[in-house]
Order: sequence, then structure tokens, then C-alpha cells
Amino acid sequence: MKKWLLLTIISALALVLAACGGGESEGEAQSSEEYTAENPFIIKFSHVTAIESVKGQAADKFAQLVDEKTEGKVKVEVYPSSQLYGDNDELDALASGNVHMIAPSVTKMVKIDPRWQYVDMPYLFESDEHVQAFFDSEIAQSLMNSDALAANDIKGLAFWPNGFKHFSNNKHPLVTVDDYKGLKFRAQAGQVLEAQFETLGAGSATIAFGETYAALQQGTVDGAENPYNNFDTMKFYEVQPYLSTTQHGRVDYAIFVNKSFWESIPADLLAPVEEALAEATTYAQELAAEENAKSLENVKASGVVEVYEMTQEERDALKEALQPVYEEFEETITPELIEGINALR
Ligand code: LMR
Repeated sequence: MKKWLLLTIISALALVLAACGGGESEGEAQSSEEYTAENPFIIKFSHVTAIESVKGQAADKFAQLVDEKTEGKVKVEVYPSSQLYGDNDELDALASGNVHMIAPSVTKMVKIDPRWQYVDMPYLFESDEHVQAFFDSEIAQSLMNSDALAANDIKGLAFWPNGFKHFSNNKHPLVTVDDYKGLKFRAQAGQVLEAQFETLGAGSATIAFGETYAALQQGTVDGAENPYNNFDTMKFYEVQPYLSTTQHGRVDYAIFVNKSFWESIPADLLAPVEEALAEATTYAQELAAEENAKSLENVKASGVVEVYEMTQEERDALKEALQPVYEEFEETITPELIEGINALR
């Protein structure tokens, strides 16, 4: 009888403690006292590019700044090069809280909200400054604050730039619109890119970034589109002898976190982490153009790529040929977003 009574009291006490929030649960800020340099609060940050890429360097900078600002009480574990999750599963891993932070190329958010494909609309952005003006705009914030992200327990925190995309392939120089006919290109994700290639008379296959080198090497696809920095740091130049400076679209990133996890970071640790993210974001903004310019020089110096410098007239012809993509996708991306970005030119 006594044992029964004791068990009942213990169960009741456990229930009361749980109801009072005595247990740690995600979505609820914890106390920071238990975290020390020896027992840090861990943030897992996964990305798909190389350590020396723009994104890789900015992610490592963020980790270093968090370490300094929290005196080691928060540790950002950065997993580069699709080591932990690749394109196919990093978003699911974020939504389920298996990873806490990712920085995908924004077009990969198409699974959650098709408007993120704005970034692939041909020649929508005219310069890095135009892109930055968009990042700083209210329309960009409206993408970040969408219900679609919240419904997946995802919160958007910042935009990081990379750069303009350029077409490459292993068959011949790409100068006129006709040169694309019959080639097959690797695409990141989504229907806009599929339509882009179709409009040029080319085929496409969606292939994860981490599998792209092998797909190009084995001839699964003939071509790709990348900022110079990805072309360089992934060594795509080894298997893509023709690169044209088409500048037809962008690869840019947004920092997304698992919302419940983020809200569980103790307030006095969250402040320095957010400060570190703001500084890493400025760092990424300063780094992107410089690294892309350096990469173009590296690619030229490799001696294995014929870099074709497109003239303005040749780019205009490509832009004109790609207009049907606007007719097909303006409603999906939304006129507000497209016109909003155009107004920032
Ligand atoms: C790609 O898949 O080409 C890019 O999204 C990779 C990246 O993250 O820069």
C-alpha cells in the first residue's frame, strides 16, 4: 500500500514539474546557466558548398564570431560540402529540427513557396547593388515573413549574396541562342529553370549540387549554370571547357533556422548570436563580389576553359529569347514581387 502511495506522489510531482516547464522543450527559451565553454549550446549549420566558397567562408566567420561573442558558450558546428545533408534533404532536416540552420540558394525554397524562384527570372537583376537593394527591401521581408515558412517551423533571418550565374558546357562555345539547342543542362530546382532551358531549346535535369560534378563528368548532362565562385571552388572547370559570361540569373542565399529551436536559445545567448549573424552577413556582402572576381581569374588561369566574354548585344538577344519565361511565371512569382524588384533598379 505504501509503495503504491509513494509511486502516486512521484507521478503527481512529475506531472506538476512538467506542467511548470521544468523540462527542456524546443520552442521554449532555456536557462543559459548550464552552458559553458566545456558544455556549449550547439547550433548545427549545414550547407552544400565548399569551405572556401563565399557561403563556406561566411558560415565559418559566423561560427567564429559566435564563439568570440559568447565566450564559447554557444558553438556553431558548420557542416560544409553536403557532408551532413544535401539538396534533397536539408530542408526536411531543418523543418524536423535535425539540423538547426541552413543557407540554401533561395530557389531551393520552391518546395515551400514558389515565389522564391524570383531569383531565376532571366535578367531580373542588373547589378550586385540592385540585389542588395532588394535584400534590404520590404518585399524581401515579406518573403521571409511568409506563413508558408512558419507553417513548416522555419524562420528566415538574413540574405547572403553570391553572384550572377553564367552558362557553361562541354560541347562548344555558347554565344547565340541557337548554341543551346539540343544540349542538356543541370538545374538546381523548380519549374522556372526547367522553362528557361526549354525556351532555349535545351533539356534539363534537376541534380543535387553535390552530385553535379559527377553528372557533368559522366555526361548525364552537358552543361550547367553557376556563379564564378561555385564554378571555381567545385572545380567544375575541369569538366566544362566552355564558359560564357551570360550573367542571366543569380545564385543568392537566405539563412533559415528551425523556428522552435531558435526560440529555445536562452535570451542572453541569443542576443550575441544575432549580433554575430548581422556581422557575418556584412562580411558575406563584402566578400561575394571580390571572391567571384578572383574565381573568374582562377578559371581563366586554369588554362582548360575557353571563357567567352558576352557583348551587351549578345546578352540582350538571350534576354529577349527568354521573355516567354516571364509570360509563363509572372503569376506564380507574383507581379508584386517582379514589379517591386524592377522598381529597385
Ligand atoms: C546550386 O545548387 O547550384 C547552388 O545552389 C549551390 C549553392 O548553394 O551555391
